[in-house]
Amino acid sequence: MPETAPKGLARLAFGGDYNPEQWPESVWQEDVRLMREAGVSMVSVGIFSWALLEPAPGTYDFGWLDRVLDLLHENGIRVDLGTPTVVPPVWFFRAHPEALPVTADGRRYEFGSRGALCHSNADYRAAAANITTKLAERYGDHPALALWHVHNEYGVPVSACYCDSCAAHFRRWLATEYGTADAVNEAWGTAFWGQRYGGLDEINPPRLTPTVGNPAQALDYKRFADATIRENFRAERDILHRLSPGVPVTTNFMTALSQCDSIDYWAWGREVDLVTNDHYLITDGRRTHVNLAMAADLTRSVAGGAPWLLLEHSTSGVNWQPRNPAKSPGQMARNSLAHVARGSEGAMFFQWRQSRRGAEKFHSAMLPHGGTGTRVWREVVALGAALDDLSEIRGTRTVADVAVLWDWHSWWAQNLEWRPSEDHDARERADAFYEALYDRHLTVDFAHPEADLSAYPLVVVPALYLMTEAAGRNLTQYVESGGTLLVSYFSGIVDEHDAVHEGACPGVLRDVLGLTVEEFAPLLKGDTVEVTGPGGTGLAADVWTEFVVPRGAETVWTYADGPAAGHPAVTRHRLGAGTAWYVSTRLAADGLDAVLARATEDAHVPARPDLPRDVEVVRRTGESGSYLFAVNHTGTDVKVPLDTPGTELLTGENAAGRFEVPAGAVRVVRLDG
Ligand code: GAL
Repeated sequence: MPETAPKGLARLAFGGDYNPEQWPESVWQEDVRLMREAGVSMVSVGIFSWALLEPAPGTYDFGWLDRVLDLLHENGIRVDLGTPTVVPPVWFFRAHPEALPVTADGRRYEFGSRGALCHSNADYRAAAANITTKLAERYGDHPALALWHVHNEYGVPVSACYCDSCAAHFRRWLATEYGTADAVNEAWGTAFWGQRYGGLDEINPPRLTPTVGNPAQALDYKRFADATIRENFRAERDILHRLSPGVPVTTNFMTALSQCDSIDYWAWGREVDLVTNDHYLITDGRRTHVNLAMAADLTRSVAGGAPWLLLEHSTSGVNWQPRNPAKSPGQMARNSLAHVARGSEGAMFFQWRQSRRGAEKFHSAMLPHGGTGTRVWREVVALGAALDDLSEIRGTRTVADVAVLWDWHSWWAQNLEWRPSEDHDARERADAFYEALYDRHLTVDFAHPEADLSAYPLVVVPALYLMTEAAGRNLTQYVESGGTLLVSYFSGIVDEHDAVHEGACPGVLRDVLGLTVEEFAPLLKGDTVEVTGPGGTGLAADVWTEFVVPRGAETVWTYADGPAAGHPAVTRHRLGAGTAWYVSTRLAADGLDAVLARATEDAHVPARPDLPRDVEVVRRTGESGSYLFAVNHTGTDVKVPLDTPGTELLTGENAAGRFEVPAGAVRVVRLDG
């Protein structure tokens, strides 16, 4: 079994991407001195260094990296060492121009940024294996080495290439998946629009077409692209395992950022030794701490509940959004500790020292341009100390209350063209349901639709358009044996090939929900409807309505107006020992909360009216004890009730009864007993 925790790291991880190659060596001494001052325990090195390590084909210069690793080791700082395969040197592309990726409309990218790669390209694969081997041979047992960091953020900025090597590779992939062209024809429904293939050799990637292409082909190409990138990760990982045994291998994910929706992190979670994640606040007007909590919960879930590590976030503003606000005082620590509450074994940043040159010079860092006389630096030093106070929580696991189903393949299918309404956005529904659960102070595990759900009293399905028969059976069994299910509209519609399940919608969910949907009736932009329910309560909805025909389900809310006026809007179905709820329209936040109130009652999930809004209370438990994290995102001091007294680890104070969490602060209580 490969190791899963960074080797030799006796504390929570704290540090960042360290790019000493951007600075004269005279600066390095100051770097390590300040790292020690801040309590840095680990840094990520060498992620973009291929051009320096191999300045010409087969000519290597490891001297500078030797000195960096030795210096870090002498100063007790562990190293997360990158394989630099996300940016091959320019000489490589001049020798192999076809390793630059091609877009669906046939344009080839040029060298000069990062991540411009064709993952099917044999020369790239050979060169990546070579530099990885060289690094593993040289540093595989270096005393500073704690973790291998393969590549960087696979899947961005290029998620798929459409060149001729990819076409050939796609045909090989199809041969393995389907065997014959006939099987592909069947799966893709090529009888439609005369797209039948006589042989696998006639098939190309889904390149530019004058109007919408075959959806099942597009969906398979997403699967193929993800699998191809994963092949390259595995090749590097296996070299590292062989030459550097005992050192875990990771690659940094971006689980909940919609910038990277081309990677099936369920599959990737099984490939890495330690799940690591990068998370940046997206400032689009929504509550950023909710998206952060969601990303952390999702990351923990792809790690199978095991501890994971936040490998990158920012000390303050980023520089790649239209507007990049600075974090407010205290926000960096609150962000960091909110990740830790949800299972991260530390908090790392991009990057250690703010660059003077290049594309990211306006991105915040641990050590800003202004040096140590800055607020950011003072907060960095304080955070290092706080994380040290929390060392004992390492290895404990976050406890979840409910599950939300999540599946990248379903999104890929849902986001293809020509759907009933372009206003329906599966990710928006996932965010909205997550937010509704967050506001009820419930900790969420995400689960694959075919996973064992028996541990959860409530399972929420925000918008899972693609659902296999196995997933349908799984949900039916879950309800029959006592679970409570809450499903949102346009779920369970198609199978793994984007073919509508036989019979009335929602195919594999008909029986468990006790209904059929006769027709979708999406609304025009800006139109709203009202649904009325128990006690005449009216809830606002928009985007989507439909004609639901109950077949065993009872109607709880009814459309008061709009195209489906008089028809059921929200239903409840008792099946076996459990209950299945269905929401057929896009409810606003108060509507979702009203339905959740009923569903959580069925599931016997207790309400938490004693907790203020925007105050997170999350637990981690394990051998070392049970810990309650209280994160106060509000501007006022709040009281959080404790069932069990304990010791607050950041202040050392006793905590009992209703204990105070100051405005914007985090408290972590080791519970007695
Ligand atoms: C990450 C990336 C880093 C840096 C950072 C800036 O996605 O891995 O190298 O670019 O974004 O926010």
